[in-house]
Parts: sequence; C-alpha cells; structure tokens
Amino acid sequence: MLFKLSLLTCLVPFAAGLILNTPANAVSGESMIVSWVAAPDDPNFALLINNEGFSSPVFLPDDANIDPHASSEITVSLVDFPARSGYWLEARNVTELAIIYAESAQFTITAA
Ligand SMILES: *[C@@H]1O[C@H](CO)[C@@H](O)[C@H](O)[C@H]1NC(C)=O
Repeated sequence: MLFKLSLLTCLVPFAAGLILNTPANAVSGESMIVSWVAAPDDPNFALLINNEGFSSPVFLPDDANIDPHASSEITVSLVDFPARSGYWLEARNVTELAIIYAESAQFTITAA
C-alpha cells in the first residue's frame, strides 16, 4: 500500500510543496494577511478566493503573479467580499489557471 502511494506521487508531473495558510482574521471591507510556506522549487502563483456560492474563483486584487520566495505573506483587500462562511484561498498557475498548487481550509469572512 505504501509502495503504491509513493509510486502515484512520483507520477504526478509537478508536485508543488506550497502550503497556503488559512486566514485567521477575515473581516469584510478590511484587509487580510495571507501567508504561505513555500518549498525551494515552488513557482510563482496567482492568488484567488473562492466560495461555494461563486460561479468561479475571483482574483484577489493585484496578486496575480506572486513570487512565493520574495515574501511569505501579502496583505489583500476584502472590500469586495461580503461576510459569509465557506470561503477558501487557491494558489494557481499564473497562466494555466486550471492548475491548482494549493488550497487553504475554509474560513469565514465576518461583518465589520
Ligand atoms: C504554468 O503551467 C505551465 C504549463 O504546465 C508551465 O509551463 C509554466 O511553467 C507554469 N507557470 C509557472 C509560473 O510555473
């Protein structure tokens, strides 16, 4: 079983090590810190926010091409995002948005 699992892992062409931390304090209309832990070979990524109520994920402002090694966090604005539960963050390939490198756990944006 263990052998099969590691074989599967080897067959994945690009296994990013990126970990997107789940935001702890998200308030609608305010700013939020998004932080991550990157492995040495993690590529640049686009940061998006998603919700089961969205028809598709939405880019967080100005953060379409993040170098995961230049910093380990950025501040994003939640001006456009209403208070509700069930949000999560996604790190995606900058040009091939179908490629998802990492997702956070779900979190709630609370009312200001
Ligand atoms: C995005 O995906 C494409 C196609 O797999 C790849 O060539 C490119 O290097 C990726 N972009 C980054 C920033 O890694």
